Amino acid sequence: MKVTVKVPASIANIGPGFDCMGIAIPLYNEITVEEAVLPGSGIKINLVDYNEEPLDLNVPTDKNNIVYKAIELLYNFIGQSANDLVITIKTGIPVARGLGSSASVIVGGLVAANELLGKPADLDVLISIATEVEGHPDNITPALLGGFVLSSLEEDGSVVYRKLEWPKEWKLTVFIPDFELDTSISRSVLPEMVSLKDAVYNSRRCAMLIDAIRTKDSDLLSKALKDKLHQPYRAKLIAGFEEIIKSIKNTEGVYGCVLSGAGPSILVISDSKSVNDFREKINKIWLDLNITCQYETMSADENGTIVI
Ligand code: HSE
Repeated sequence: MKVTVKVPASIANIGPGFDCMGIAIPLYNEITVEEAVLPGSGIKINLVDYNEEPLDLNVPTDKNNIVYKAIELLYNFIGQSANDLVITIKTGIPVARGLGSSASVIVGGLVAANELLGKPADLDVLISIATEVEGHPDNITPALLGGFVLSSLEEDGSVVYRKLEWPKEWKLTVFIPDFELDTSISRSVLPEMVSLKDAVYNSRRCAMLIDAIRTKDSDLLSKALKDKLHQPYRAKLIAGFEEIIKSIKNTEGVYGCVLSGAGPSILVISDSKSVNDFREKINKIWLDLNITCQYETMSADENGTIVI
């Protein structure tokens, strides 16, 4: 028996919501989990692109693979050891670009294995296991649930989460550069401690962001999409980021420009009319720095993970 699931990419942080907010977007990985035909054959992990061609990504394909680790925790949760499994990851989400590709495969592996096992784990358990493997819940929860999700990793390992409806008229334009940035590197430049002033700056903006979404208030959104906890430190890793923010700051219909997750991709939130006004501008700033990028304007994915 085998199960395949389709899991969206996600954009974490959205400016002020470092490690606690994220939104699902319509780029997808497909993860298939099947029990191996021959017992004792161990674990096999296949990485393929969307045309089913083998991919040579620099990720472990043994028991150190994060998908396998997550599935093993699920088996442990039900008091069993993981069976011999074949895991196939069909990759439609660019890796190491701040688009939640690791969360997507962790969630995909868990949901597929949970189906195979007859659904012993509920959503809360799946989220908690996935977060244990990923380290933070802000990509995990939108990958699973779709839409915009707030999440808080609690001291006991559980995750409190709430999904809010993302206003359809707020378009998400994602600029994905041709270079990779490992989340571990992007986290290594963050300070251990921040000032009370900066912490309060972000608390205020998280509060504004939630209310802006609930009331579809784009003026409030513009004020909310600022951050002092991670972007200022990460800017030095992403050439052109500060210039891009400045260049579109006063464009009518643009509500804000933030790092997508840990970067290097960049997210612009805007109305649909202004999209043409900033797409070429950003493309050019990066081209002048010898960086090519793909860009796409989309709405949020509201479905999250689906079994196909
Ligand atoms: N919240 C995480 C970060 C997202 O900014 O490091 C990346 O996985």
